[in-house]
Amino acid sequence: MNGLVKVLGRVGFTVAAVLSVLIALVSYRFLPQGVETAMDFMAHHVQDNALMLYAHIGVAPIALAVMPFQFLKNLRARRPAVHRWLGRIHVAAILVSGVAGFQLAFYTSAGPFAAAGFAILAVIWLSTTGMAFYFALKRQIDLHRIWMLRSAALTFAAVTLRVYLGAATAAGIDFDTAYLLVSWLAWVPNALVMEAYLWTRRGSSRRIAASEPQPT
Ligand code: HEM
Repeated sequence: MNGLVKVLGRVGFTVAAVLSVLIALVSYRFLPQGVETAMDFMAHHVQDNALMLYAHIGVAPIALAVMPFQFLKNLRARRPAVHRWLGRIHVAAILVSGVAGFQLAFYTSAGPFAAAGFAILAVIWLSTTGMAFYFALKRQIDLHRIWMLRSAALTFAAVTLRVYLGAATAAGIDFDTAYLLVSWLAWVPNALVMEAYLWTRRGSSRRIAASEPQPT
């Protein structure tokens, strides 16, 4: 049973990692094509707030692409300096693109419901990442890990948003309705699943600690 869980975990991680890197790469389609062609529903941002748009779509994919490498145990153990440098790049990318994403939220053409979804996501993305970075600096690695997992569940919203949007439009839901739904559904379930995972891990580490022989 434990073996099966491990295999499923590995497969899940590999799929998530490949999707993260692919979506990060595809996000740069605006470079050869221009925002107006590559992401026509973002075109109004070019007039309203081009700086924030380019800060977001130019930098957020770096955070997404770097993320899977930070979870590789071997890399962390064998090349801690690489882990630390990628971590700094990841956090800096979230800082820049999170602030820009927060501002962009208020200019979305999808209305206040979607704006609230994106703005709240930006705030908790920045906060969880800030906590993770703080605990890394303090060398409180268990807490660093917990907050980084929370941050990653939110970074992964960039993947779930596009997967759900594709699935919803393929299922015949019109783009505007699908977009409203995914502005919340892309990240709330991710955050809840991560909390449930952390909660079960806390339970099992308490059980392990309780079964360990106590010093006399
Ligand atoms: C997790 C926090 C994030 C927030 C709060 C956020 C917020 C936003 C907002 C508000 C927009 C404009 C939407 C509109 O005008 O309707 C946007 C667009 C975009 N974001 Fe993010 N974003 C986040 C993460 C990411 C990540 C990690 C990536 C990496 C790929 C990313 C890539 C993009 C791209 C490429 C667009 C242009 C539209 C598209 O191609 O879908 N975002 N984001």
